[in-house]
Amino acid sequence: MTHDPSDAAIEALYLESRTFPPPAEFKAQALVTQAAVYDEAEADWQGYWARQAADLLDWDEEWHTILEWDRPFAKWFVGGRLNVSVNCLDRHVAAGLGDRVAYHWEGEPGDTRTITYAELLDEVQRFANVLSGLGVGRGDRVAIYMPMIPELPVAMLACTRIGAAHSVVFGGFSSDALRDRINDAEAKVLVTADGGWRKGRANLLKPAADVAVADTPSITDVVVVRRVGEPVEMREGRDHWWHEEMGKVAATCEPVSMGAEDLLYLLYTSGTTAKPKGIMHTTGGYLTQVAHTHKYVFDLKADRDVYWCAADIGWVTGHSYIVYGPLANGATSVLYEGAPDHPDKDRWWSIVERYGVTILYCAPTAIRACMKWGAEWPQRHDLSSLRLLGSVGEPINPEAWMWYHTHIGGGRCPVVDTWWQTETGAIMISPLPGATTTKPGSATFPLPGIAAEVVDEQGRPVGEGGGYLTLTRPWPSMLRGIWGDPERYEQTYWSRFPDRYFAGDGAKLDADGYLWLLGRVDDVMNVSGHRVSTTEVESALVDHPTVAEAAVVGARDETTGQAIVAFVTLRGGVTADAEHGEALRAHVADKIGRFGRPKTVIFTDDLPKTRSGKIMRRLLRDVAEGRDLGDTTTLADPAVVDEIRRRAVATP
Ligand code: WTA
Repeated sequence: MTHDPSDAAIEALYLESRTFPPPAEFKAQALVTQAAVYDEAEADWQGYWARQAADLLDWDEEWHTILEWDRPFAKWFVGGRLNVSVNCLDRHVAAGLGDRVAYHWEGEPGDTRTITYAELLDEVQRFANVLSGLGVGRGDRVAIYMPMIPELPVAMLACTRIGAAHSVVFGGFSSDALRDRINDAEAKVLVTADGGWRKGRANLLKPAADVAVADTPSITDVVVVRRVGEPVEMREGRDHWWHEEMGKVAATCEPVSMGAEDLLYLLYTSGTTAKPKGIMHTTGGYLTQVAHTHKYVFDLKADRDVYWCAADIGWVTGHSYIVYGPLANGATSVLYEGAPDHPDKDRWWSIVERYGVTILYCAPTAIRACMKWGAEWPQRHDLSSLRLLGSVGEPINPEAWMWYHTHIGGGRCPVVDTWWQTETGAIMISPLPGATTTKPGSATFPLPGIAAEVVDEQGRPVGEGGGYLTLTRPWPSMLRGIWGDPERYEQTYWSRFPDRYFAGDGAKLDADGYLWLLGRVDDVMNVSGHRVSTTEVESALVDHPTVAEAAVVGARDETTGQAIVAFVTLRGGVTADAEHGEALRAHVADKIGRFGRPKTVIFTDDLPKTRSGKIMRRLLRDVAEGRDLGDTTTLADPAVVDEIRRRAVATP
C-alpha cells in the first residue's frame, strides 16, 4: 500500500531557495572539490567501485568478478577474500598507528576510557577466543544486546574475526522483541550487560535478556558485561561474566579469511508487516562502501579529525558509521553512552569541546530538541573545533538545517544531509562537502557510483516534481536479502516497479536536479529517527485482551518527526479511560520497546473503513494531524469520522 507524501510538506520545500556553496576555507582542504568525480564514476561505475575496494581495503585474495547481477540478487567482488577485523584493526597497528585513539569513550555518569587501536585489537582477539571457546565458529550467529560501551564494538569485531555473523538488538527493545530476533536468527550465544546508564538511571538489560532466553532453544551461552554493578542472576553453566572469561583466554587469535559474499551481520528492521525483517549484509561490498562514504562524505583526515556519530550502535547508523566505516579508515571517534540532556542540556556540547570534535553526525530529531532547549546551551561551549556537520535518519526541515548550520556550525561548517537505509547499508544520497552547493532540506544528489530516480505511480521518471524514490542499479553495500525469506526480499523491494529497487520513500526532484526526501510512503513510521511499523504496533495492541481492533498512524510531530497515534476499539464492557490508555501504552512498550509506545491513544467505537473493509489510515492521519478530511464518501459509515474527530480533540 502506498499513499502520497503530504502536500503541505512539498509546498513548504518548494519555497526553500537558499543555497550554500562549499565555504572557501573548507574547499581549500577538502578531499573532493570537483564535480567531475560524478562523471568519472558514471563512465564506468563498476570500475569505480572496484577502485574503491582496492584503494580502501586490504584483501587476502583479489576478486575475479566485480559484480554478478542476477536481478534482484547481487554478488560483489566475487572470489575476493578478506577479514573485516584485520581491515579495521591489524593493518592500522601494523602501519605503526597502534597508539592512535580508536574511541574516546564517555559513560553517562562521566567515567571515561581512551581506547587505542592496539588496545582494541587486543580485546577483540581475546573476545574472539572467548566466543570460539563457547563453540562459535564460521557461519554461526551471535546475538548482541548491549548499551553503548566499548565492549559492544569489541563483541562485533570479535565475531568478524572468527567468521561469525552478529545480530545486534538495540538495547531499547523489549525481551519479547529480543526473543523473536534471536529465534529468527537461531543465534548460538547472546552477549549482553547487566545494564547501561540512561538519564541518570541504570537501564537493566540482563533481566530482559533472561526472560528472552527462557524461550530461545538455540542459545547455549550468555556472556555478561558488568557495567552498572546491579546484582544480576547468573545461571550456572549458561551465563558467564565477560571480565572473567577475558582473563582465561589466549591473547592472540588468527583471523579467518572470509569470502567477499559471506554473511557479516543481520540487522532486524521494521517493514510493513508485523514481523521484522533480518536484513543481510555481507563482507566485501559492505566494507568497501561504508569506508568509501565515511571517507568522502565526511571529508575524513584520519590523522587529524575527531569524529562523532551520536547514534546508537543498535541501529544501522551505528553499525556503519560508529563501527565499520570509521575503524576501516583508521579514524578517531567519540563513543558516548547516554542521553543528550544528562545531567544538563549541554552534555553534547561539552563533549564536542572536551574532545575537540571536528565532525558531528546526528539525527534531525536531536537537532530539533536542541532548538527547543535554546541556543544558550551550545553557546556555553567552544565549538570552534567543528568543521563539518551531518544529518541522518529522517527528513531535515529547512528550519532545523539552518539552526544546525548557524548555532552549532557557527555558519562555517558545510551540512551533509545523508539519505540511506538499513537495507542500503551505507549512505546513498548526500552532498560531497567540498564540491556540492547545498540547499537546506535537500540531500542533493546520489553519490558517485550510485543511481537514483524519482518515478510516478507507473514507474516513469518524473523529471521535475514529486514521486517515489527508486534506485536503478545494484550498489556494493546493498542488502543481500532477508534472512530466511528470499521471496519476501524480492517482493518487498523489487516488485513495485520493474527493474528498480523501491526504497519506500517519497521524494521530489527540483528544477536543478536536487533530491528532497519527503518521508515514508508506506506503513512505516519514523519516530525520532527510529523506524517503527504501524502493523507491528497494531498487532501489539490487539494482543491485549481488552482490544477488539486497532489502527495506528504516524502523525506529524514538531520534535520527533512523527508521533505514534493509536485508534483503539475496546471489547464490550471495558471502560475507555485515561488509565486504560496508559495500560495499553505500557503493553506496547512490553511487546516492542519504549520507542514503539503510542504517544496518544484515542478510543473509538468504530474505525473508518472502506466498503471492502480496509481501514482508512490516510483519514486517521488527517484526524490525528487535525487536517481537513476531504472526501470521505468511500466510508462505510461517515458518522464514524465525526465521532473520532470529537474524541481526538478531547484527548490531549
Ligand atoms: C529515512 C537509517 C530523509 C527514510 C539510516 C528511510 C531519511 C529510513 C534520511 C531508513 C534523510 C533516512 N532524509 N529521510 N537524510 N535518512 N531517512 O533503516 O524514510 O533506520 O527509508 O536507516 O529513514 O531508516 P533506517
